[in-house]
Amino acid sequence: MKLMVINGPNLARLDIRDSSIYGDLNYGELKSLIEGAASNSGFVADVRQSNDEATIIGWLHEAADAKIPVIINPAAFTHYSYAIRDAAELLTAPLIEVHLSNPMAREEFRHTSVISGIAHGTIAGFGPNSYVLAINALKAMLG
Ligand code: DQA
Repeated sequence: MKLMVINGPNLARLDIRDSSIYGDLNYGELKSLIEGAASNSGFVADVRQSNDEATIIGWLHEAADAKIPVIINPAAFTHYSYAIRDAAELLTAPLIEVHLSNPMAREEFRHTSVISGIAHGTIAGFGPNSYVLAINALKAMLG
């Protein structure tokens, strides 16, 4: 089964972001980890990253039309993009929100997610393993 994994702004620059918050993997390594975990669970993961809100909205429309489940790390868009929320609400298969860090343990502006309310669940704070846990959860949901 196909799975779309969408990563938001600045996640392609993990190599230069604070490793005490985001871990030691660069984006290429994170992408390989996700692809491998997905394959182990019987999914073919299409892992994408964009800094652009409109591009992410287009990908969500594509996943909705194709009835593909989505794992999304909306990055900073998590906290304020009603446009991404509205697009995610149109999905026709499960949506799981993930974060590398635990936004609730960080600055106050990160305590709000406008995405969580329309996701089946949120997994945050486990570094790259957040994505692996999300893949396991999807597998359990979809049988
Ligand atoms: C993040 C948390 C967000 O608050 C932040 O803006 C990010 C990454 C995470 O994966 O921990 O860019 O989504």
